[in-house]
Amino acid sequence: MHFHHLIAVAIVSLVYMSARANAEPRSGIKSRTAIDDFVDKQTAISLQGALNNIGPDGSEVPGAGAGFVVASPSKVDPPYFYTWTRDSALTLKMIIDEFIFGNTSLQSYIEDYVHAQAVLQTVSNPSGTFLPVGLGMGEPKYQVDGTRFNGAWGRPQRDGPALRAIALITYSNWLMENGQSNKAKNIIWPIISNDLSYVGQYWNQTGFDLWEETQGSSFFTIQNQHRALAQGTRLAKDLGVTCTGCDQAPEVLCFLQSFWNGNFTVSNINVNNGRTGLDGNSILGSISTFDIDAHCDSPTLQPCHSKSLANFKVLIDTFRETYSINSGIPVGSGVAVGRYAEDVYQGGNPWYLITTAAAEFLYDAVAQWKARHNLFVDERSLAFFKDLYPVVQVRQYHSGNNNSPFAEIMDTVTAYADSFVAIAEKYIPADGSLAEQFDRATGVPLSAIDLTWSYAAFVTMSQRRSGRFPRSWGSRNTITPPATCPTSHLSTKGVYVPATAAGAPNVTSSCQINVVFNVNASTYFGENLYVLGSAVDVGAWDVENALPMGAGGYTSERPLWSVSAYLDAGETASYTYVRQENCNQGWLYEIRNRTLTVPACGGDAVTLEDAWAGPGGRLGHAELSCVDDELGIKGYSIS
Ligand SMILES: *[C@@H]1O[C@H](CO)[C@@H](O)[C@H](O)[C@H]1NC(C)=O
Ligand SMILES: *[C@@H]1O[C@H](CO)[C@@H](O)[C@H](O)[C@H]1NC(C)=O
Ligand SMILES: *[C@@H]1O[C@H](CO)[C@@H](O)[C@H](O)[C@H]1NC(C)=O
Ligand SMILES: *[C@@H]1O[C@H](CO)[C@@H](O)[C@H](O)[C@H]1NC(C)=O
Ligand SMILES: *[C@@H]1O[C@H](CO)[C@@H](O)[C@H](O)[C@H]1NC(C)=O
Ligand SMILES: *[C@@H]1O[C@H](CO)[C@@H](O)[C@H](O)[C@H]1NC(C)=O
Repeated sequence: MHFHHLIAVAIVSLVYMSARANAEPRSGIKSRTAIDDFVDKQTAISLQGALNNIGPDGSEVPGAGAGFVVASPSKVDPPYFYTWTRDSALTLKMIIDEFIFGNTSLQSYIEDYVHAQAVLQTVSNPSGTFLPVGLGMGEPKYQVDGTRFNGAWGRPQRDGPALRAIALITYSNWLMENGQSNKAKNIIWPIISNDLSYVGQYWNQTGFDLWEETQGSSFFTIQNQHRALAQGTRLAKDLGVTCTGCDQAPEVLCFLQSFWNGNFTVSNINVNNGRTGLDGNSILGSISTFDIDAHCDSPTLQPCHSKSLANFKVLIDTFRETYSINSGIPVGSGVAVGRYAEDVYQGGNPWYLITTAAAEFLYDAVAQWKARHNLFVDERSLAFFKDLYPVVQVRQYHSGNNNSPFAEIMDTVTAYADSFVAIAEKYIPADGSLAEQFDRATGVPLSAIDLTWSYAAFVTMSQRRSGRFPRSWGSRNTITPPATCPTSHLSTKGVYVPATAAGAPNVTSSCQINVVFNVNASTYFGENLYVLGSAVDVGAWDVENALPMGAGGYTSERPLWSVSAYLDAGETASYTYVRQENCNQGWLYEIRNRTLTVPACGGDAVTLEDAWAGPGGRLGHAELSCVDDELGIKGYSIS
């Protein structure tokens, strides 16, 4: 039934085996270099580094539950000892691909992850509950035993369910090809179905980006959401099940086109944060939706698309100027790459995972041109190629014999990719450990140690470099979107059912009503606001479980803090607002309690408009170190 898939897998395996079995040069010109030895050694260290951070047996993360991927063993400065849905899914996608490429010993990690995520989907948290409408799945992070995290955070983050679906769909395809369709259908699909329901219902609402700083529409999120829905459509068809939400795929793909500003990809739109929009977000999006079978003009915006290449050049050039460790490196040679030029988090430095992502992006593009036997250089991508191959012209280059310009251009882009790996090598310590960042002036490792995502990113780069490509996800089946996107039917109501066959508890839904708490409260940078009250969903008067509010709509005209919650229909609750002061100064309460009566079942949503009644906040010791501690992780801060 899946004959074409089997052939694709067989070819991939052959490429993998030949690349591994002998030390043949990868192109006709280059011989095996010192960089090959470095990559081999660092790949093994990186795979082990990622596994060390996964419960229950990971050597660096005692206390983590089975299948939970911990972001980093670092518990303070910065506190990363949590499990993020995004980081976990990207790590498992790497592990699932390694498994499919032949490392069968990794299957137990995948099985543990399946169980852990089935349970996690149902955990109530500050983003909401699982039932009735899936809101809880937008929660970015949890404790390492899978229980809720109650602190203030940039939530919701809508890339998590999409990335988890992509990882699990990849595993399901392998199960189907290996005679385990029933397992794919009965155990894995119910988890995927919830995630795709979430994507189809909420993709057209804003959320926080992958750096947890910007509330808006994120290129990385939208690109992965489209892939999840498109790939989910295909899996649902293969399994003979219905995919609720997948019908949104064309609308999401249409919206994806609006991140292009004529010169580069603006990574966050529907936001005004004073940045150019040039952001490593755009490289990470393209590599996680990479499809070896894609056409380069595919609207899925693959690495070999001329828009992606033009964006790559403009983005990388900003980092040439931003970091002093890059000074003197000429165009056409790799540099240290970070998140975005305006970044100040932990000093605003290059990241290992984005530097290796730049290399992976280029290996992907070369693989796509080689697979198509064709490269079309247009006005948009000309500047990218000029840096590498000055005599390049706007024209088509077909692959031919070894002396054709096509082969030369492939070699020069591959060498460019290798030069980013060489930069990573230069700043990776001798023991191969990968932190989050390295210093922009000295190159010394910085921020969280042993970052799982850094390790996973090194392995995926190494897979592409050695010619190991995951099977096509079907990007060729997409239809070019219309010039103007539709403005209606931009959400499909999801169907949410606990994935009990995979181990989820059979949670049930009480009838709840959406209540939006809006309060005007002027705050200083580092101060946070919470709702606390008698209802369980607002903490049952335990301030440690109060519901964190967001300041995404806070402006100089209106000091708005807001949170959307679901409370039991018909209940009467008392509540109050509480300020969390910086520098561990504790809580500041309003001078009054308020009362709220939630409408009966079937009633309309309620929006409460309040104004803070009580003392204003007091800025703690102004020392930067103290303020920094309060900012949380990955630069997330509010107000
Ligand atoms: C396969 O995975 C195991 C962990 O289960 C790891 O120790 C081993 O190094 C991996 N093998 C290869 C060739 O990557
Ligand atoms: C929703 O989709 C429309 C049509 O593509 C787009 O114009 C709008 O910016 C989107 N809004 C969000 C928040 O995604
Ligand atoms: C694109 O680049 C051109 C040439 O530098 C410039 O004139 C134009 O304003 C740019 N457009 C945007 C949206 O940045
Ligand atoms: C879960 O609970 C619901 C409602 O009580 C029930 O209808 C359903 O059969 C249960 N499902 C399982 C798998 O136990
Ligand atoms: C609000 O109600 C709680 C719980 O009954 C109580 O502990 C608190 O003192 C009340 N606050 C005010 C200002 O009345
Ligand atoms: C909150 O602030 C806005 C803008 O200043 C104002 O229009 C609104 O009335 C305020 N709400 C309350 C409840 O005071």
